[in-house]
Amino acid sequence: MAIFRRYGVGAKFYDVLSGERFVYRAGRVAGIRALAPARGDVVLDLGCGTGLNFSLLVDAVGPEGAVIGLDASPDMLAMARARIDRAGWRNVAVAVADATAFDPDVVAHALEGAHRSRVRPDDDPATTPPDRPVDGVISTYAMSIFGDWPAAWTRVRAVLRPGGSAAIVDMHVPVGRAAVFGPLARLAAATGGADLTARPWEAVERDGVNVRSVSVRGGHIQVRAAVIP
Ligand SMILES: C[S@@+](CC[C@H](N)C(=O)[O-])C[C@H]1O[C@@H](n2cnc3c(N)ncnc32)[C@H](O)[C@@H]1O
Repeated sequence: MAIFRRYGVGAKFYDVLSGERFVYRAGRVAGIRALAPARGDVVLDLGCGTGLNFSLLVDAVGPEGAVIGLDASPDMLAMARARIDRAGWRNVAVAVADATAFDPDVVAHALEGAHRSRVRPDDDPATTPPDRPVDGVISTYAMSIFGDWPAAWTRVRAVLRPGGSAAIVDMHVPVGRAAVFGPLARLAAATGGADLTARPWEAVERDGVNVRSVSVRGGHIQVRAAVIP
């Protein structure tokens, strides 16, 4: 599939060519702030790519928490694993998975790789069922690339514990005075294979409570986070 070739060949250059420093880092910072993971949480990063969210997530969950990254591209995950090794994080693990079709067991097995069991010993099985061990989910600049993002959202709901949190950070055409940057945004989306009309954050608005909404870079980056009952 074209999208996996794109994130295969391009994996080595993604961090420098993706516009991270001047455009997209602001969105991931806003998204993780809105998600507000607590110490000890298990956070799933869906479509994690090279792991640009990991250091911010590890800082939030602490050594007693865990970060699980899933991505369909082995090449992007090779970069993510190199990042994990360089940083020496023992509580971060990644696995190859299609976000639109992954089995909940993929997360459970990855958790074991991150030296965590499915649930903490003091977790109440009523609020954290063993098959739904995830406290928070974030997906940055990925849902609009998945194609069938509603299917990915269904998979998210299958692993997120009742009352967990979800944050979606994704791209939209800039509006207002920033509309002048529309062609650049379209170019970035076309380069990355993103659909600027996808609006995956609407799932969080529809299914969440206490929705936090942030707009960054003239509306090009949309952030939604909420508690998902
Ligand atoms: C633009 S990158 C974003 C990566 C990362 N979330 C970030 O913020 O830098 C999109 C990622 O989505 C991944 N991807 C595309 N389709 C996917 C799918 N169906 N399942 C899982 N990952 C997918 C790509 O391999 C790529 O790593």
